[in-house]
Amino acid sequence: MASRLFEGRAHAAFYQKYRFSPPENLRGAVFAYLGGKLKSFDLAVDVGCGSGQSSCLLAQRFEVVVGTDISAAQIEEAKRAAHPANVSYVVCPAEELPVEDHSVDLITAFTAAHWFDIPRFMKEVERVLKPAGCVALSTNTLDMRLHYKDCTEELTEVLKEVQEKLFPYANEKVQFVVSDYKEIFDSLPFRDKERILDIVDKIPFSVADLMGYIQSFSMYQTFLELQPEAAKSLLQNTERRILEVMGVSSLETQLELWIRQVCVLGCRSS
Ligand SMILES: C[S@@+](CC[C@H](N)C(=O)[O-])C[C@H]1O[C@@H](n2cnc3c(N)ncnc32)[C@H](O)[C@@H]1O
Repeated sequence: MASRLFEGRAHAAFYQKYRFSPPENLRGAVFAYLGGKLKSFDLAVDVGCGSGQSSCLLAQRFEVVVGTDISAAQIEEAKRAAHPANVSYVVCPAEELPVEDHSVDLITAFTAAHWFDIPRFMKEVERVLKPAGCVALSTNTLDMRLHYKDCTEELTEVLKEVQEKLFPYANEKVQFVVSDYKEIFDSLPFRDKERILDIVDKIPFSVADLMGYIQSFSMYQTFLELQPEAAKSLLQNTERRILEVMGVSSLETQLELWIRQVCVLGCRSS
Protein backbone atom coordinates (compact mmCIF):
# COMPACT_ATOMS: atom_id res chain seq x y z
CA MET A 1 0.00 0.00 0.00
CA ALA A 2 1.12 3.58 -0.65
CA SER A 3 1.61 5.86 2.39
CA ARG A 4 0.16 9.36 2.80
CA LEU A 5 2.72 11.41 4.69
CA PHE A 6 4.23 14.80 3.73
CA GLU A 7 0.74 16.18 3.15
CA GLY A 8 0.84 19.11 5.60
CA ARG A 9 1.67 22.60 4.33
CA ALA A 10 4.23 23.13 7.12
CA HIS A 11 6.02 19.88 6.27
CA ALA A 12 6.05 20.82 2.57
CA ALA A 13 7.52 24.22 3.42
CA PHE A 14 10.33 22.53 5.46
CA TYR A 15 10.99 20.42 2.41
CA GLN A 16 11.33 23.34 0.06
CA LYS A 17 13.63 25.18 2.46
CA TYR A 18 15.86 22.46 3.93
CA ARG A 19 15.93 19.39 1.65
CA PHE A 20 18.99 19.28 -0.55
CA SER A 21 18.95 18.37 -4.25
CA PRO A 22 20.33 14.94 -5.18
CA PRO A 23 24.00 15.56 -4.34
CA GLU A 24 27.05 15.37 -6.58
CA ASN A 25 28.19 11.76 -6.20
CA LEU A 26 24.65 10.39 -6.46
CA ARG A 27 24.04 12.50 -9.59
CA GLY A 28 27.36 11.26 -10.98
CA ALA A 29 26.37 7.61 -10.49
CA VAL A 30 22.93 8.11 -12.10
CA PHE A 31 24.16 10.11 -15.08
CA ALA A 32 27.10 7.75 -15.70
CA TYR A 33 24.60 4.87 -15.89
CA LEU A 34 22.23 6.77 -18.21
CA GLY A 35 25.11 7.82 -20.48
CA GLY A 36 25.80 4.18 -21.27
CA LYS A 37 22.15 3.16 -21.75
CA LEU A 38 19.75 5.86 -22.93
CA LYS A 39 19.15 6.45 -26.63
CA SER A 40 17.13 9.66 -26.20
CA PHE A 41 16.68 12.31 -23.51
CA ASP A 42 13.16 13.47 -24.45
CA LEU A 43 11.09 12.91 -21.31
CA ALA A 44 11.98 12.28 -17.66
CA VAL A 45 9.33 11.75 -14.98
CA ASP A 46 10.47 12.48 -11.42
CA VAL A 47 8.02 10.58 -9.22
CA GLY A 48 7.46 11.71 -5.61
CA CYS A 49 9.24 14.95 -6.55
CA GLY A 50 8.29 16.75 -3.34
CA SER A 51 9.10 20.42 -3.68
CA GLY A 52 10.88 19.86 -6.99
CA GLN A 53 14.65 20.17 -6.33
CA SER A 54 15.44 16.92 -8.16
CA SER A 55 13.13 17.68 -11.10
CA CYS A 56 15.04 20.92 -11.74
CA LEU A 57 18.35 19.03 -11.92
CA LEU A 58 17.00 16.67 -14.58
CA ALA A 59 15.96 19.67 -16.67
CA GLN A 60 19.60 20.26 -17.64
CA ARG A 61 19.70 16.93 -19.52
CA PHE A 62 16.12 16.22 -20.65
CA GLU A 63 13.92 18.11 -23.14
CA VAL A 64 10.90 17.83 -20.87
CA VAL A 65 10.67 16.95 -17.17
CA VAL A 66 7.43 16.18 -15.34
CA GLY A 67 7.60 16.16 -11.54
CA THR A 68 4.77 14.23 -9.90
CA ASP A 69 3.72 13.90 -6.29
CA ILE A 70 0.68 12.64 -4.42
CA SER A 71 0.78 15.65 -2.10
CA ALA A 72 -0.93 18.81 -3.35
CA ALA A 73 0.96 20.84 -0.69
CA GLN A 74 4.34 19.63 -2.02
CA ILE A 75 3.38 20.37 -5.64
CA GLU A 76 2.19 23.83 -4.61
CA GLU A 77 5.66 24.49 -3.07
CA ALA A 78 7.35 23.12 -6.22
CA LYS A 79 5.29 25.38 -8.49
CA ARG A 80 5.97 28.39 -6.27
CA ALA A 81 9.76 27.87 -6.36
CA ALA A 82 11.79 29.08 -9.34
CA HIS A 83 12.05 26.30 -11.93
CA PRO A 84 13.18 25.98 -15.55
CA ALA A 85 10.57 26.37 -18.32
CA ASN A 86 10.86 22.71 -19.38
CA VAL A 87 9.74 21.47 -15.93
CA SER A 88 6.07 21.06 -15.05
CA TYR A 89 4.41 19.54 -11.99
CA VAL A 90 1.35 17.32 -11.52
CA VAL A 91 -0.43 15.98 -8.44
CA CYS A 92 -0.89 12.23 -8.95
CA PRO A 93 -0.04 8.89 -7.33
CA ALA A 94 3.14 7.11 -8.38
CA GLU A 95 1.00 4.12 -9.24
CA GLU A 96 -1.07 6.04 -11.86
CA LEU A 97 1.20 8.29 -13.90
CA PRO A 98 -0.53 10.61 -16.41
CA VAL A 99 1.69 9.63 -19.36
CA GLU A 100 1.24 7.47 -22.46
CA ASP A 101 2.45 3.87 -22.68
CA HIS A 102 6.13 3.57 -23.69
CA SER A 103 6.69 7.34 -23.82
CA VAL A 104 9.23 7.96 -21.03
CA ASP A 105 13.06 7.79 -21.24
CA LEU A 106 13.72 7.98 -17.51
CA ILE A 107 11.73 7.44 -14.33
CA THR A 108 13.38 8.72 -11.14
CA ALA A 109 12.35 8.70 -7.51
CA PHE A 110 14.72 10.37 -5.04
CA THR A 111 14.07 9.43 -1.40
CA ALA A 112 10.51 8.57 -2.37
CA ALA A 113 10.14 5.02 -3.81
CA HIS A 114 9.89 3.40 -0.37
CA TRP A 115 6.60 5.26 0.17
CA PHE A 116 4.99 3.82 -2.97
CA ASP A 117 2.88 0.71 -3.44
CA ILE A 118 5.86 -1.12 -4.96
CA PRO A 119 4.10 -3.88 -6.98
CA ARG A 120 1.73 -1.32 -8.58
CA PHE A 121 4.52 1.20 -9.14
CA MET A 122 6.70 -1.41 -10.89
CA LYS A 123 3.79 -2.24 -13.25
CA GLU A 124 3.54 1.47 -14.02
CA VAL A 125 7.30 1.67 -14.70
CA GLU A 126 6.92 -1.20 -17.19
CA ARG A 127 3.93 0.47 -18.82
CA VAL A 128 5.40 3.95 -19.32
CA LEU A 129 9.09 3.34 -20.13
CA LYS A 130 10.26 3.30 -23.74
CA PRO A 131 12.25 0.26 -24.86
CA ALA A 132 15.75 0.78 -23.38
CA GLY A 133 14.28 3.40 -21.03
CA CYS A 134 15.80 3.58 -17.55
CA VAL A 135 14.75 3.84 -13.94
CA ALA A 136 16.77 5.32 -11.05
CA LEU A 137 15.41 4.89 -7.51
CA SER A 138 17.62 6.29 -4.79
CA THR A 139 17.45 7.24 -1.16
CA ASN A 140 19.42 8.90 1.60
CA THR A 141 20.19 6.20 4.16
CA LEU A 142 20.29 6.62 7.91
CA ASP A 143 24.12 6.35 7.81
CA MET A 144 25.02 9.93 8.58
CA ARG A 145 28.05 11.58 10.16
CA LEU A 146 28.51 15.19 11.18
CA HIS A 147 31.93 16.67 10.48
CA TYR A 148 33.35 19.77 12.16
CA LYS A 149 37.02 20.23 13.05
CA ASP A 150 37.97 17.52 15.59
CA CYS A 151 34.39 17.09 16.93
CA THR A 152 33.14 14.55 14.38
CA GLU A 153 32.73 11.61 16.78
CA GLU A 154 30.89 13.63 19.43
CA LEU A 155 28.64 15.40 16.92
CA THR A 156 27.80 12.13 15.17
CA GLU A 157 26.88 10.66 18.55
CA VAL A 158 24.43 13.53 19.16
CA LEU A 159 22.85 12.88 15.74
CA LYS A 160 22.64 9.13 16.41
CA GLU A 161 20.82 9.80 19.69
CA VAL A 162 18.30 11.96 17.82
CA GLN A 163 17.78 9.18 15.26
CA GLU A 164 17.27 6.63 18.05
CA LYS A 165 14.66 8.88 19.73
CA LEU A 166 12.82 9.40 16.45
CA PHE A 167 13.01 5.86 15.09
CA PRO A 168 9.99 4.56 17.10
CA TYR A 169 7.94 7.14 15.16
CA ALA A 170 9.15 5.89 11.78
CA ASN A 171 6.58 4.51 9.36
CA GLU A 172 7.00 0.79 8.55
CA LYS A 173 8.09 1.78 5.03
CA VAL A 174 11.37 3.09 6.46
CA GLN A 175 12.36 -0.61 6.66
CA PHE A 176 12.96 -0.45 2.89
CA VAL A 177 15.61 2.20 3.60
CA VAL A 178 17.11 0.21 6.48
CA SER A 179 17.50 -2.76 4.13
CA ASP A 180 19.21 -0.57 1.50
CA TYR A 181 16.34 -0.94 -1.01
CA LYS A 182 16.93 -4.71 -1.36
CA GLU A 183 13.20 -5.45 -1.75
CA ILE A 184 12.83 -2.60 -4.24
CA PHE A 185 15.78 -3.93 -6.25
CA ASP A 186 14.32 -7.45 -6.19
CA SER A 187 10.93 -6.13 -7.38
CA LEU A 188 12.33 -4.26 -10.39
CA PRO A 189 11.15 -6.41 -13.31
CA PHE A 190 14.24 -5.94 -15.52
CA ARG A 191 17.18 -8.28 -16.04
CA ASP A 192 19.55 -5.39 -16.62
CA LYS A 193 19.73 -3.82 -13.16
CA GLU A 194 22.17 -2.91 -10.41
CA ARG A 195 22.15 -1.62 -6.83
CA ILE A 196 24.88 0.75 -5.66
CA LEU A 197 25.31 0.86 -1.89
CA ASP A 198 28.37 2.96 -1.24
CA ILE A 199 27.74 6.45 -2.56
CA VAL A 200 28.73 8.98 0.11
CA ASP A 201 27.99 12.66 -0.33
CA LYS A 202 29.12 15.61 1.78
CA ILE A 203 26.43 18.22 2.33
CA PRO A 204 27.49 21.63 3.66
CA PHE A 205 25.00 22.82 6.27
CA SER A 206 24.79 25.60 8.83
CA VAL A 207 23.65 24.45 12.28
CA ALA A 208 20.32 26.21 11.57
CA ASP A 209 19.92 24.29 8.28
CA LEU A 210 20.72 21.02 10.04
CA MET A 211 17.95 21.70 12.55
CA GLY A 212 15.58 22.42 9.65
CA TYR A 213 16.68 19.21 7.91
CA ILE A 214 15.89 17.17 11.04
CA GLN A 215 12.43 18.75 11.11
CA SER A 216 11.83 17.64 7.51
CA PHE A 217 12.12 13.94 8.55
CA SER A 218 8.72 12.23 8.38
CA MET A 219 9.49 10.57 11.73
CA TYR A 220 10.09 13.97 13.36
CA GLN A 221 6.78 15.23 11.96
CA THR A 222 4.97 12.17 13.36
CA PHE A 223 6.64 12.72 16.77
CA LEU A 224 5.63 16.41 16.64
CA GLU A 225 2.03 15.50 15.92
CA LEU A 226 1.84 12.95 18.75
CA GLN A 227 3.97 14.73 21.38
CA PRO A 228 4.44 18.38 20.41
CA GLU A 229 6.17 19.48 23.61
CA ALA A 230 8.61 16.55 23.67
CA ALA A 231 9.41 17.07 19.97
CA LYS A 232 10.16 20.76 20.44
CA SER A 233 12.30 20.08 23.48
CA LEU A 234 14.26 17.38 21.57
CA LEU A 235 15.05 20.00 18.94
CA GLN A 236 16.06 22.65 21.48
CA ASN A 237 18.31 20.22 23.37
CA THR A 238 19.89 18.95 20.16
CA GLU A 239 20.63 22.47 18.97
CA ARG A 240 22.15 23.39 22.34
CA ARG A 241 24.30 20.23 22.45
CA ILE A 242 25.56 20.69 18.90
CA LEU A 243 26.60 24.29 19.57
CA GLU A 244 28.25 23.23 22.85
CA VAL A 245 30.24 20.41 21.20
CA MET A 246 31.33 22.74 18.39
CA GLY A 247 32.24 25.42 20.93
CA VAL A 248 30.37 28.12 18.98
CA SER A 249 27.29 30.26 19.56
CA SER A 250 26.22 31.16 16.02
CA LEU A 251 23.59 29.02 14.30
CA GLU A 252 25.16 30.11 11.03
CA THR A 253 28.38 28.16 11.77
CA GLN A 254 29.01 25.72 8.92
CA LEU A 255 29.52 21.97 9.30
CA GLU A 256 29.23 19.00 6.94
CA LEU A 257 26.75 16.16 6.90
CA TRP A 258 28.27 13.03 5.31
CA ILE A 259 25.44 10.84 4.14
CA ARG A 260 25.42 7.46 2.41
CA GLN A 261 23.08 7.03 -0.54
CA VAL A 262 21.68 3.88 -2.10
CA CYS A 263 20.68 3.74 -5.75
CA VAL A 264 18.77 1.10 -7.72
CA LEU A 265 19.26 1.44 -11.48
CA GLY A 266 17.62 -0.53 -14.25
CA CYS A 267 17.12 -0.56 -17.98
CA ARG A 268 14.16 -2.02 -19.84
CA SER A 269 15.11 -4.35 -22.68
CA SER A 270 15.01 -2.81 -26.14
C1 LIG B 1 10.96 12.13 1.28
S1 LIG B 1 10.02 13.00 0.07
C2 LIG B 1 11.19 13.17 -1.25
C3 LIG B 1 10.93 14.35 -2.14
C4 LIG B 1 11.97 14.62 -3.22
N1 LIG B 1 12.05 13.57 -4.21
C5 LIG B 1 13.34 14.86 -2.59
O1 LIG B 1 14.28 14.11 -2.89
O2 LIG B 1 13.47 15.83 -1.83
C6 LIG B 1 8.93 11.77 -0.49
C7 LIG B 1 7.85 12.32 -1.42
O3 LIG B 1 7.13 11.21 -1.96
C8 LIG B 1 5.76 11.58 -2.05
N2 LIG B 1 4.94 10.36 -2.11
C9 LIG B 1 4.75 9.46 -1.12
N3 LIG B 1 3.95 8.47 -1.55
C10 LIG B 1 3.66 8.75 -2.85
C11 LIG B 1 2.90 8.08 -3.85
N4 LIG B 1 2.28 6.93 -3.61
N5 LIG B 1 2.82 8.66 -5.07
C12 LIG B 1 3.46 9.82 -5.33
N6 LIG B 1 4.20 10.49 -4.43
C13 LIG B 1 4.30 9.96 -3.20
C14 LIG B 1 5.53 12.42 -0.80
O4 LIG B 1 4.38 13.23 -0.91
C15 LIG B 1 6.83 13.20 -0.71
O5 LIG B 1 6.75 14.45 -1.36
